[in-house]
Amino acid sequence: MQSQDRELIKYALTSESSRTTCIKAWVRTKRESKNFAFLELNDGSCLANLQVIINDDKPGYDCLKDISTGAAVCVLGTLVESPGKGQKWELHADKLEVYGLSAPDYPLQKKGHSLEFLREIAHLRPRTNLFGAVFRIRNQLSYAVHQFFQERDFLYVHTPIITASDCEGAGELFRVSTAPLDKKYQAEKDFFGRQTYLTVSGQLEGELFATALSNVYTFGPTFRAENSNTARHAAEFWMIEPEMAFYDLQDNMQLAEDFVRYCVTYALEHAKQDLDFLQKFVDKNIYERLEFVAGQDFQRLSYTEAIEILGKAKQDFDYQIAYGSDLQTEHERYLCETHFKKPVILYNYPDTIKPFYMRRNDDGKTVAAMDVLVPGVGELVGGSQREERLDVLTENMEKHGLNRDEYFWYLDTRKYGSVPHSGFGLGFERLIMFITGVSNIRDVIPFPRTPKNCEF
Ligand code: 4AD
Ligand code: MG
Repeated sequence: MQSQDRELIKYALTSESSRTTCIKAWVRTKRESKNFAFLELNDGSCLANLQVIINDDKPGYDCLKDISTGAAVCVLGTLVESPGKGQKWELHADKLEVYGLSAPDYPLQKKGHSLEFLREIAHLRPRTNLFGAVFRIRNQLSYAVHQFFQERDFLYVHTPIITASDCEGAGELFRVSTAPLDKKYQAEKDFFGRQTYLTVSGQLEGELFATALSNVYTFGPTFRAENSNTARHAAEFWMIEPEMAFYDLQDNMQLAEDFVRYCVTYALEHAKQDLDFLQKFVDKNIYERLEFVAGQDFQRLSYTEAIEILGKAKQDFDYQIAYGSDLQTEHERYLCETHFKKPVILYNYPDTIKPFYMRRNDDGKTVAAMDVLVPGVGELVGGSQREERLDVLTENMEKHGLNRDEYFWYLDTRKYGSVPHSGFGLGFERLIMFITGVSNIRDVIPFPRTPKNCEF
């Protein structure tokens, strides 16, 4: 059997000359005329379909009567300029073969299903135009992430998925265990001889590598058992976490800003066809929003200044905000969408609402934290300069109720050649939400895991 021409649909969009070829793809529509038929085929390589014309004298034509939307076929033929409207090229079939017919109850025969309905058939939704577009963009952005850091000589480090520590100290941990469910739990008898969890962040391990190799990044799955059923939280999500030796908070904010802008610019330059589609069906302001981030400097603002602005805001918030409380999404969005009309980096948060590892500022009240807020999504990035002073760090750990003996390995980085260093985490799904305009995190991750929901 002839091999698949993976580039064909893209070729058909850009090329000048005809060629003989083979396409293996899924049928989107079929239209039959008297002695020929049209098939619209899609293989996921891009949004566009390829139109196939097959005459009734060609081998395989008699299969057509059984072919419906969703069937998988192979067509051998010649790509020629199309006289019809809507496509530059079409494939004149010499032969049609069927891989698999599609049963009559195929749920995606019609267009325009709601996202909620498609979530119920998450195993089939990659076959829709919308999810094809989202997951192609997700793929491109994954590549852009590596490109950004590799161009800057950052080392990609694989931090563990199973850990024994809670980086964020929020207790939102999924346990990893092989202990029987029905017996009284004894940690020392468990698989690792202690309690272990799915990681909430690769940061602490990232710091171990940054304090040896200077600039590193991780990009992997992270897990949080926070029971917040929001459109921006998933129990399993992907995070990009760079960690840089010799970076202070300013350097950290600059890198985060450069990184976000790079990703958005990358999408604008590499995903036009899919973005055009999303503009039409999901968010008509998509380009405005992306240019908004690609084209201007981010506003930097201390937490204290933000509280003042929010206090004076002429807007009713569901949650009142006062010094010492964490911002809610409505506050974050007010700052960047209404007040500044640009992405905002908030820094120097009260130590009471941030984890143990953040560097204490000289005022004794705040820590060198920073969050990047973008319109539509709110918090996209969270990071900080890390506490590099051994005595201050151990004090912080005590305050947060952490056992320093269990973190001896972390403290060793402060004991042996400690350096100022910083890092941040960018939630990959939030980035994809921002870029695509898709407003629910469940629709930008292939297999969403949220409270009470883990299909497959
Ligand atoms: O602000 P967070 O909790 O920061 C950390 O985990 C740090 N250890 C990162 C670091 O400094 N290396 O999470 C970072 C980002 C958030 O800004 C958000 O974009 C995303 O991760 N995030 C989530 N995304 C989806 N679902 C969730 N439940 C998320 N929790 C955080
Ligand atoms: Mg955060």
